[in-house]
Amino acid sequence: MILLAFETSCDETSAAVVRDGRILSSVVSSQIKLHEEYGGVVPELAAREHLRNLMPVVRSALHQAGLVPVELDALAATQGPGLPSALMSGFKAAQAMAFMLRKPFVGMHHHEAHLYSPWIAGNPPVADFGGFQPNVSLIVSGGHTMLVHVCSELKHRVLGGTLDDAAGECFDKSGKLMGLPYPAGPVIDRLAGQGNPKAFGFPRPLVHDVNDDFSFSGLKTSIRYFLRDNPSLLENPGHLRDLCASIQASIVEVLVAKTIKAARRLKVRCVTASGGVSCNRSLRHELAAACARNGLLLRLAEPGFCTDNAAMIGILAERKLLKHAAMTAWDDEVRPNWPLDEVAPHF
Ligand code: KG4
Ligand code: ZN
Repeated sequence: MILLAFETSCDETSAAVVRDGRILSSVVSSQIKLHEEYGGVVPELAAREHLRNLMPVVRSALHQAGLVPVELDALAATQGPGLPSALMSGFKAAQAMAFMLRKPFVGMHHHEAHLYSPWIAGNPPVADFGGFQPNVSLIVSGGHTMLVHVCSELKHRVLGGTLDDAAGECFDKSGKLMGLPYPAGPVIDRLAGQGNPKAFGFPRPLVHDVNDDFSFSGLKTSIRYFLRDNPSLLENPGHLRDLCASIQASIVEVLVAKTIKAARRLKVRCVTASGGVSCNRSLRHELAAACARNGLLLRLAEPGFCTDNAAMIGILAERKLLKHAAMTAWDDEVRPNWPLDEVAPHF
């Protein structure tokens, strides 16, 4: 099966062609530069930019795959959750194309696709889900932080999520307080590499809590007050690196501890992580160390598939079509607040 997938839920315009579990092309156009001066994603600007970028991105994905539209067997697009107008631009374009070509169309749940992105191997780009294991999956991005129990392929249950800010938001807002450019996550990652994570003690919110929820807004507030009381730290590059390392250590410790705790409680053998923050080198390293200590397998999304991309949408859409999961109508609407637990049958 040859399937063309679209992803426009936030600030990445992406299209990918997949065929029989292989990624033939994957094109991502990021809007980071556009939103940088506002310190965050501006929904109306994002939607306009998607409309501008969509056709060049789709054309390029088809060109790289060496295909023309009539050769497609199916189309897919992110249906939700996400920014309404951003979702609409990609979803409606994909539906229109499916309608014109009279091909099946699948509206995909963005987070469900993230759940399987760690199973997309890098090079050669084969996604056979062959070594699939029941797992506890950490999805951690600028908009979301959640733990999900994936008991078998296409069956999952949300264990917990963030009560306020997402982990990526905490990276970005802390960075803003330190005068770092948006998005600050990758910058903090880089600076933290040369800093001392024990230099400053920031809170580890909910780390010992019995449930699987997260909360990062208190940490951000404590960083704000700490910087207000110690402004001179920002003037010294060494102290800035220590600050970055200490903030990162707080976020990473919470993410790792809660993921491992859930995996042990549910007695799964495998842990996975995806989403933009899962690019973080310290998170990857600490998760690997904690999994090794606890006898757990670890599948991390390849850095290129951590952030939003249409390849993960296409790979899962194809699996769904092959498993005869329901198709989406050509005139269905986007679902900006679609809960993940509504997608797959509970277990
Ligand atoms: O998944 P993503 O591209 O978009 C959504 O939010 O859905 O994630 C973007 C987030 C931003 O908050 C960014 O700062 C964070 O991922 N991020 C990182 C790193 N790379 C991206 N955070 C920490 N360390 C990184 N290396
Ligand atoms: Zn995402």
